[in-house]
Amino acid sequence: MNLKLGIKDITKSYGKHQLLKGCTYGFGKGVTAIIGPNGCGKSSLLRICAYLDTPTSGRVAYFYTKDKAQTPDINLMRKITLVLPKGGIFDASTWSNVMFGLRVRRVSWIERKRRAREALEAVGLYEKRKQNALGLSSGESQRLALARALALEPQVLLLDEPTASVDDENTAIIERLILQLKDRNDAPTIVMTTHDRGQAERLADKIITIKQGKIATAGSVSMYESRREEEQTLSPEDDISGGGFFVDKKFFGGGVNLKDIDKIGD
Ligand SMILES: Nc1ncnc2c1ncn2[C@@H]1O[C@H](COP(=O)(O)OP(=O)(O)O)[C@@H](O)[C@H]1O
Ligand SMILES: [Mg+2]
Repeated sequence: MNLKLGIKDITKSYGKHQLLKGCTYGFGKGVTAIIGPNGCGKSSLLRICAYLDTPTSGRVAYFYTKDKAQTPDINLMRKITLVLPKGGIFDASTWSNVMFGLRVRRVSWIERKRRAREALEAVGLYEKRKQNALGLSSGESQRLALARALALEPQVLLLDEPTASVDDENTAIIERLILQLKDRNDAPTIVMTTHDRGQAERLADKIITIKQGKIATAGSVSMYESRREEEQTLSPEDDISGGGFFVDKKFFGGGVNLKDIDKIGD
């Protein structure tokens, strides 16, 4: 069963600047892309979703079933992995970079080796396992960051600009990996940010847009392609709680039920 993510009325201010102004959404199965221009708050929202930053107000909750939220403790945190652009590669072999997180989680030695090998093979870096990771190209570093995340076998994978400052060849490899990942039986719930609408359309099942601090539109990708003009006419105030998609301005629910989100997390 997929671990789903619900956010409700998320606001975030830095000083006097209110960046996010009431974001509500349910993220479920498949890939959801958050798109929007630089500085609109995509990364901030993702950090909040990963519990790495606190919202100024609002709630983040994770669910398996519709109305039972998981306690936000270390066990839950370990099911959620955020991959940042240029994220935290350290001065050790490519292999050790993957093994580290598994050791922290006390995964057995045999299992660690299996997962590290599979993850490095998946991203095409197994041959470079003995090389110091700081010597990898930026595209390879991003692939390593993904391998580290894959090895942890997260149930929710949050990808912040997974191909930022990556060349075309590596972008294609990373996009293919994301598509393969979402086809797996045990696929995690994937939420990614991108400023590239084309990438969102290639990878995502659902696309949401942040405009003036709010989630302004939501929809399935096929609907986006056929109804983009109508989609853009939706008001930011349209109710999109629970995920799902719009057809003819009518909202069809999906994702998670947010009705109990206020009860948890204290
Ligand atoms: N920790 C912080 N302190 C102050 N301002 C921040 C902080 N994090 C982000 N910001 C500001 O919030 C805005 C949005 O940032 P971000 O979430 O990174 O947007 P995006 O990922 O969409 O480009 C930027 O103007 C940035 O300067
Ligand atoms: Mg960003």
